[in-house]
Formats: sequence, C-alpha cells, structure tokens
Amino acid sequence: MSVQPPNGSSNAFVWPEEGLNAVPDWLYTSDEIYQRELERIFYGPTWNYVALEAEIPNHGDYKRSWVGEAPVIVTRGADGNVHVVENRCAHRGAEFCRSLTGNSKEFICPYHQWTYDLDGSLRAVPFRRGVKGKGGMPADFKLSEHGLRKLRVATRNGVVFASYADHVEPLDQYIGPEILKDFDTLFDGRPLKILGYWRNTLYGNWKLYHENLKDPYHATLLHTFLVTFGLMKAGQKSAMIADPLGRHGTMASAKGDEEEGVDQKAVNKEMRKMIELELEDGRVVGFVPEFKSPWTVTMQTIWPNFITQRELNTLGVRHIVPRGPDSIDMYWTMFGYADDTEEMTKLRLCQSNLMGPAGFLGIEDNEAIKWVQEGARRSVTEKGLTLLGGRDEGTSDTLITEAAVRSMYRYYRGVMGL
Ligand SMILES: [Fe+2]
Repeated sequence: MSVQPPNGSSNAFVWPEEGLNAVPDWLYTSDEIYQRELERIFYGPTWNYVALEAEIPNHGDYKRSWVGEAPVIVTRGADGNVHVVENRCAHRGAEFCRSLTGNSKEFICPYHQWTYDLDGSLRAVPFRRGVKGKGGMPADFKLSEHGLRKLRVATRNGVVFASYADHVEPLDQYIGPEILKDFDTLFDGRPLKILGYWRNTLYGNWKLYHENLKDPYHATLLHTFLVTFGLMKAGQKSAMIADPLGRHGTMASAKGDEEEGVDQKAVNKEMRKMIELELEDGRVVGFVPEFKSPWTVTMQTIWPNFITQRELNTLGVRHIVPRGPDSIDMYWTMFGYADDTEEMTKLRLCQSNLMGPAGFLGIEDNEAIKWVQEGARRSVTEKGLTLLGGRDEGTSDTLITEAAVRSMYRYYRGVMGL
C-alpha cells in the first residue's frame, strides 16, 4: 500500500533517504504526481512522438494520435506539410475525429458541423449569421481566431514529433548526438514501408516501461527465450548508453560478439534456461547484416513517449500513451524500407514474432511491468531498490547495472521538483 499524501500537498512526497538507489512507490500510484507529469513533461517542453511520415504519405492523409493523454490528429496538408492539431472541436470540445486513419479534404465535427482545414484552420460555421436575422454568432466572431489548437511539429528522417510547448529546443539537440547515432542508423532517410500494428493496454505506470528499457540486467534473466536460443548472453558485447541529461537511452548488444576475458561457464550458470529446446526454423533468431553498426540490437527510449526497436532484422517503434498513473496504451508500428526485397520483408515479419504484446520477448516485459505495478499498489513496503552498479549513472558498458535508471530519475526529479 503506497502512502498517499494526507492532504494532497506536494510537500508530502519525500524521496527515500537512499537517494537514487531507491524508487518510492508513490511515483507509480499517485494521481497528483501523474497530473504533474502530464503538465510538466508531456505538455511541457518535450518532443513527443506522434507518427511516422510513411503513415500519411499523400495530401489529405491523417492519423489519430496522442501526446500524453491528449488526442491529436497528424495530417498531411494541402501544402504537403505535416501538421499536428488537437482532436478537439473549438466549439464544444468534442473529440470529433473517430477513425484511426483516413484521407479527407477537411475535418467536420459531427456535432454541429464546424469545418476545419487539415492544418486546423476553421473554415466554416453553420448558421453563422443565424436565420432571418435571428441568432447566429456575434458580428465580431472571426473564423481565424477559432481554429483547432496547433502543436509545434518537428520531423527527422520520417519520424514526426509534436510539442504543446511554445519554446522547446530543436529536435536534434533535444535527442542529442549520443542517441541520434543509433536513431539515424534505423531512420537513415530511406522511405519506410509500414508492415503492421499492434495495440495493447498495459496495467503499469508509464515510467516502468522506460525503466524496463534502461535496465539491461533483466534481459538475460526474464527473457529465457533469449538465453535458450542463444540470442543474448551476459558477457557479450553490449552497452547501455544515456544522453548527458539521462532522459533518453539506448540499450545495445551484439549477438555472437563475446567480450574477451569473460568466464562463460560462470555466466551461463547465472542465466537459467527453462528447458533444452531447439528451434525448427532458425530465421526468427537469425541476422542478415544490413546496418553500419556494431550492434545487432538497439532499443531506444526517447523521452517521454517513444521507443525505437531494431532487434536483428525486425524494426519498429512503440508509442506510449499514459492512461492514468497505473495504465498505458501501447501502440506498436512495425516497418521495413520501401526498397526491401520480398525476402527481407518476410524475414522482418517472421522476426516480428519476438515483439508485440504477445511476442516471445514482449510478452514477458508486459507481465513483469504489471507485477511491479501490483507490488507498488498492493503491498505494505513503500519503495524499490536500484542498487545495481552502486552510484554509477549514465552510460555503461556492462549489462549488470541500473545506472541509466538512476540518471533518468535524477533528471525527472529536477523537472518534477521532487
Ligand atoms: Fe525486456
């Protein structure tokens, strides 16, 4: 049972005395903390992933998306530019766009048929002048003052980000060179081809998903599939990379590239294979080299709502949509490149079995995150430990550390005033 502040006062949120070596349960369960996160993080000076440009290639294409909890629509306007507008009619606030994707010349709110251009400008209001001189909008009503709320938009090699903040640093500076290196390996400017989607609701706090991908310790312990089929071993060449602020991360590893001087027998003893199994079809864990990168796997967390995944030859992104302190909706988009051969597309699809809510790897993360949330919500103890690697923070070349989790919370505590 996590302790809630008695009077809702933020002074009641006291971080444990262990500092960054502990994480308090109220971080995952408190409504007040969650509201502050929406305001300061998701609607604050951050770049939030909203779509891939390949999803809206033609004029008039649109896609429903979210920034934090807020519904938005990503559009390709008549001008060819990408726009992100709030999915909320300027009149009565209806979340009017109901289809996930589509193509249209305009948006019409079904409630009173207020009509907007794809860039969010208000074009028409029915009965604006009333009927027979009665009713209607006031004479000084200006269409130009009542469009949909427009968000700032930035794109990089086909990935679209949006921000509610008026002032946010340029996207390349926001992501930073340490993280852009592997981001640009995946998104190298080649046109993408969308291969498919998954959606799932996960009963865990949104930060647990970031923690999971900044916690390389769990990879060979939770994911017995990795160990059983030789995809990953503790002791193989790997890195956990953080940006200087600690908010973003890249978990990287190289299959088959074992570090020198590692006692493999001792390592194998720590990693538990559930049963001795062999795969009938090895393609799912195979790798066809195609990137200029030392890594066969890179999983990136880009603060606050975006995950890029390059696992062998299967490629994708995940979009975190928070739904209260104890739940997220996860949107997975799998893709390849427009110039892929049919064989490569088949390989990407075959290996995509590793991913998604029921993937050979994805399913276990979902379960583990749910268990942590249940522990935080139901038990009497009030904090978890992040002791691995002592007080180290930031980038590390070992998997057996929680250094990147600590850097994330150092940054987070600054933003949140905790
Ligand atoms: Fe995992």
